[in-house]
Amino acid sequence: MASNMSAAANLPSPMATFSHYAFPIPKGFSFLGDKSLTWLYTTAVIVVSLLLVEQWLWRYRKGSLPGDKWMIPIIGKFADSTRPSMQAYQKQWDMGALSATSVFNIFIVMAANNEFSRKILNSPMYAEPALVHAAKLVLRSDNWVFLNGKAHVEYRRGLNALFTRKALGAYLTVQEQIARKHLTRWLAESQANPGPRPIMMDMRYCNMDTSLRVFCGDHIPEEAVKDINEKYWHITKSLELVNFPLPFPGTKVWYAVQARKSALRWLELAAEKSRIAMAAGGEPECMLDQWIRAFTDDSYKGRKDFTNLEMAMVLFSFLFASQDAMSSGLVYGFQHLVDNPDILAKVREEQTRVRQGNFDKPLTLDMIAEMTYLQAVVKESLRLKSPVTMVPYRTTRPFPISENYTVPRWSLVIPTFVTSLLDPNVYPEPESFQPERWLDPESTANKNPKNYLVYGNGPHKCIGIEYANMNIALVLATAVCMMDFEHDVTPLSEEIDIIATIFPKDGCRLTLTPRDNSA
Ligand code: HEM
Repeated sequence: MASNMSAAANLPSPMATFSHYAFPIPKGFSFLGDKSLTWLYTTAVIVVSLLLVEQWLWRYRKGSLPGDKWMIPIIGKFADSTRPSMQAYQKQWDMGALSATSVFNIFIVMAANNEFSRKILNSPMYAEPALVHAAKLVLRSDNWVFLNGKAHVEYRRGLNALFTRKALGAYLTVQEQIARKHLTRWLAESQANPGPRPIMMDMRYCNMDTSLRVFCGDHIPEEAVKDINEKYWHITKSLELVNFPLPFPGTKVWYAVQARKSALRWLELAAEKSRIAMAAGGEPECMLDQWIRAFTDDSYKGRKDFTNLEMAMVLFSFLFASQDAMSSGLVYGFQHLVDNPDILAKVREEQTRVRQGNFDKPLTLDMIAEMTYLQAVVKESLRLKSPVTMVPYRTTRPFPISENYTVPRWSLVIPTFVTSLLDPNVYPEPESFQPERWLDPESTANKNPKNYLVYGNGPHKCIGIEYANMNIALVLATAVCMMDFEHDVTPLSEEIDIIATIFPKDGCRLTLTPRDNSA
């Protein structure tokens, strides 16, 4: 029979150890009177008891799950969580399909395989998204993403209208304009200052500009885009698995909360301007306009009484969910293409064919649908370097995750995506970049969609999948037509920096030159 992994296993109480223990008086303390000594002993006994209770609790909750025998008092693995690395995560995943750790006495169960990861994502009765520790402070606890069960399903259904094919078609023009604007600037700057430049921060700005213009169109001024982009870096930096628990002024979470407040003010203003424009009979030009116009349609059955603040909070949830993930997906998209010249050549050949040699022709959804090779590139790039490595959930009641182990209530339980996405049984040569694996309908990759956890799974699965895939494809398609790029490969290019999502440690250093498509 399998060993009992239940967290409810009995362990002796540490308090018993102290009932009749006589402490010797250390020499250095002889200057203290009897009363002071009694206080000293009492305090020492309480502190030591609490520390032992803490260790007892750790072992009690861990049961026989793999994990450290003793936990560092009070802070647990806090130091590791402030310096996350793939190597440290890998060590934890290697411990077993389920393993335990702890930070600031928050008990954490990591799921390393596909079965347990999907089980967590699909068990809303037992676990809800906790995102990261600071998420409720950064997003506000009344943000819709923290809803659960029926309330979540209904709220989300209303938002699906913002991601229909018709809506996506309307966003496409804005996305292409912004991508061209930023890539043109990169080229101009590269000509003024030849040589490699890390594209990571530029990519983040381009992506923020795209998101805000798609969401708010011209209802948000240029200065707001710059302001939100700059301050957003505080939010990204605050997204550690577990932060210092209190958001005191000067802490990362405090800065992130200030950044959110400032962004929400701009987004609320944009919602108000959109209302005014739509009331004046303007044509919908962005997500806000489409949303407000939908309310006024007689056939619209959903909720109509959204306040400006509520709309701003929804848009902010989209920014929160996409800014880091999309920027990461794009940076690795560039890196994978430039490192695989044969694949880059095939992408360019497809661009020439679909665009019929006209590289200035605006893209349409149909044209992107024809770019099947590019879509395989995007899918493979996201598989190989999944922006999101894992998403923490929190148990709302004891969660019988396996026959032998029940995760205690209020624990973090973390499904891992990377292990499913690099499973050699599903993706032969998992570490190699092979878009072709997505072109064969009979491939193990296509036959096992359950392993493709890039966008999560279950009721909280990403709402922006089509939009995200389309945007990455569009930016890469535009870039390969506008420019040639060379990778300045450094020892850090293959090293992974975990900053909310993942980025190459050197920021992906590219030399960019304008491309002559007439050849
Ligand atoms: C490459 C880009 C993206 C990646 C890799 C990504 C990945 C994810 C993942 C892993 C989740 C959690 C799923 C789960 O818990 O099962 C998620 C949730 C979510 N994503 Fe994305 N995402 C991306 C882009 C976007 C975009 C562009 C938007 C919106 C414009 C968006 C909006 C959301 C929202 C609102 C949620 C929470 C959904 C809910 O709780 O019901 N994401 N995403």
